[in-house]
Amino acid sequence: MNKVSVVSFGLVSLLASATFAADEKAKAAAPAPAAPSPEAVAAGKKINWDKMDENAKKAYMKKTVLPTMKKLFVGFDKKHYSNMSCATCHGEKAAENKFKMPNPSLPKLPQPTDRAGFMAVQQKKPEAVKFMGSQVKPTMAALLGKTEWSPTAPEGFGCYNCHTKEEAAAAPPPPAMGKPAAPGGPAKGW
Ligand code: HEC
Ligand code: HEC
Repeated sequence: MNKVSVVSFGLVSLLASATFAADEKAKAAAPAPAAPSPEAVAAGKKINWDKMDENAKKAYMKKTVLPTMKKLFVGFDKKHYSNMSCATCHGEKAAENKFKMPNPSLPKLPQPTDRAGFMAVQQKKPEAVKFMGSQVKPTMAALLGKTEWSPTAPEGFGCYNCHTKEEAAAAPPPPAMGKPAAPGGPAKGW
């Protein structure tokens, strides 16, 4: 099981970098940065996330994580994210849920072994997948002082540290969240 997940997680990275490369050719003028900023890396090096208590974590989220991540999200989609808050990542019930991640109210991602599922997400939301893989994931990992997930760092920080997984095929799909955005007006996100 573990080996299989590693392979398909690799697929996600490959997909993400493949789009990135194709896109770069298309508009070489404005390539998106693919690495975390030196500020994010420096901030992450100053903390030991796993040893911090809840108050220290909250303070770090507020002072460093939210402003840094908001800048990225606003750069990606200003209209949607100019009000970005703790709830954008942690959900409307953040406090009630004790800020636990991953957050089941974020759009669910296919199971790590679901190659076709990931291809479909990639095709439907190429820009979102690229943004997530090349900016959100590396920057969040850096801010937490963690290694970013990769096939050679399977314990690293990755997509499933924020997103939950879709139900396995046998179970009924959860209402709304896992569904592709309806044409003309998704309630949420892009
Ligand atoms: C860009 C997404 C993002 C935003 C915005 C964000 N967080 Fe977080 N937060 C995370 C992630 C990811 C984790 C889990 C880190 C880990 O793997 O341990 C986390 C963890 C936490 C934890 C620790 C939870 C636990 O189970 O130990 C607290 C507390 C927290 N966040 C508070 C906040 C507060 C308060 C805000 C707003 C000021 C905020 N967060 C904004 C992504 C975010
Ligand atoms: C730090 C937390 C975090 C990480 C890590 C993360 N995401 Fe996201 N993702 C989010 C948030 C927040 C949103 C936006 C939700 C919204 O707009 O309400 C999002 C949205 C998305 C969407 C858009 C869904 C839709 O239906 O519009 C996709 C696709 C996605 N993420 C895929 C990924 C993939 C693939 C990875 C790993 C490469 C990843 N995410 C890593 C937090 C994260």
